[in-house]
Amino acid sequence: MLSTKDIYDANASRWARSERVLLSDFTARPRVIEALGPLDGRHVLDLGCGEGYVARLAVDAGAASVHGVDASPEMVRAACDAAQTYPSTALSFEAADAVGTNRFPRASYDRIMAVFLFNYLTRADMKTVMRTARERLAPGGRFVFTVPHPCFAYMRAPAAPFYFETNGADYFSAVDRTLEGRIWRRDGADVPVRCVHKTLSDYFDALAEAGFVALPRVVELAVTVEHLALDADFFGPLRGYPLHVLFSVELP
Ligand SMILES: C[S@@+](CC[C@H](N)C(=O)[O-])C[C@H]1O[C@@H](n2cnc3c(N)ncnc32)[C@H](O)[C@@H]1O
Repeated sequence: MLSTKDIYDANASRWARSERVLLSDFTARPRVIEALGPLDGRHVLDLGCGEGYVARLAVDAGAASVHGVDASPEMVRAACDAAQTYPSTALSFEAADAVGTNRFPRASYDRIMAVFLFNYLTRADMKTVMRTARERLAPGGRFVFTVPHPCFAYMRAPAAPFYFETNGADYFSAVDRTLEGRIWRRDGADVPVRCVHKTLSDYFDALAEAGFVALPRVVELAVTVEHLALDADFFGPLRGYPLHVLFSVELP
């Protein structure tokens, strides 16, 4: 099985984008920016930042700085290239494993996001990263993350524009197994994606174990009437399915 780093190094050019292209650029990422709340002057840590698309959106929305971390050096290279048109203090990126990364200053980020990172991590590694997020968030800070909806792979047969293959394992026995999938861009290209499966309750348990005591806000993300009005051929096959879940949790 190819490593996640190898997959993203090989596909960095297909992920690089300056406008909404991927299905999830419409169905998830705008909702992440919304969930981060007012960003003016805030300092943000982006775990699993990829080629920096969401980090740039956060700076465009007013964030003072976003520091991105990603396991793929090629994705980080693309992020640094795209950051060249931004003020030098606004965006910084490093190639590193988000699991067990402890060198970020403690209690110093107003917002931490992990946009489709946890679907690459086992349940144990996800807990480690959530603990890192908990420790690095400033008081009153907010942690926002998105993952593929845990039920999605079990509701829809593999087909464009988004799928994961379950390979016969059921919802509970598949925990920590890697489901391979693909997600499409509106221009017809697609990229490989993975989901190390977890149940819905695994996310709540991991947040609690990491020390997030407040109830998270949970949003099940789906195709909307606006998406269908924009491009019914592209979004139509996913109408009515829960595609992703967004969690947002705050520190006191
Ligand atoms: C689906 S992409 C999302 C990228 C970006 N967050 C976005 O929304 O455009 C997942 C990213 O997670 C990164 N990733 C996977 N496992 C990681 C790990 N253990 N540490 C850091 N990054 C990781 C991959 O290299 C990839 O860039």
